[in-house]
Amino acid sequence: MEGKLIQLIWVLFLFIAMTAPAHSHYSFTSVPNVSPTEKVTNLHFFYHDSLTGKNPTGVLVAKPNNSDPSLAPFGAVFAVNDPLTVGPELTSEVIGNARGIYVSSAVKPEQPMVMMYLDFGFTSGEFNGSSISMFSRNPVQEKERELAVVGGRGKFRMARGYALLNTFFVDPKGAVIVEYTVTVFHY
Ligand SMILES: *[C@@H]1O[C@H](CO)[C@@H](O)[C@H](O)[C@H]1NC(C)=O
Ligand SMILES: *[C@@H]1O[C@H](CO)[C@@H](O)[C@H](O)[C@H]1NC(C)=O
Repeated sequence: MEGKLIQLIWVLFLFIAMTAPAHSHYSFTSVPNVSPTEKVTNLHFFYHDSLTGKNPTGVLVAKPNNSDPSLAPFGAVFAVNDPLTVGPELTSEVIGNARGIYVSSAVKPEQPMVMMYLDFGFTSGEFNGSSISMFSRNPVQEKERELAVVGGRGKFRMARGYALLNTFFVDPKGAVIVEYTVTVFHY
């Protein structure tokens, strides 16, 4: 009886020793993906980017040392923290912000184009704390254009989709208001 008990204790001990987390081990699990129901979400908001004024929401961080006098010569890099609002006026309710960088990437005489690497984060409502990642070329000259949504955080984890952009207002000194209609697939 006692022998059996000792044996049992040893078996338990070995089991615990073998299953205890070992931080130095490479491990993985791989199981069939039984897909949960996918949702589709449509979002509509306005994006405000201003490089001018007392409180710019975008700043030039680098540009090539050449004679191109334009506001965004090929190679210019801008960092932004741009508000997203419900309506086209900056005074309308702010529902999030777009953060990241964009790079002027058209070589003259090509039409202006920027490459956008932006995270659109929401700060109110259903998607407060969640964000969607856009990684896309943006032919800013075209009135209507499309950006790719390549991922997301929070409720937008694993998101993919697209954003349709429509320029609402342009100040040639360096400010734009753009209407975004976004469709994202996520879980
Ligand atoms: C910018 O270009 C000019 C003319 O080529 C050169 O003299 C100057 O040293 C350059 N400045 C920097 C910071 O590279
Ligand atoms: C959004 O979430 C943050 C963090 O959880 C919270 O502090 C804030 O009050 C929320 N805002 C709204 C408008 O729900």
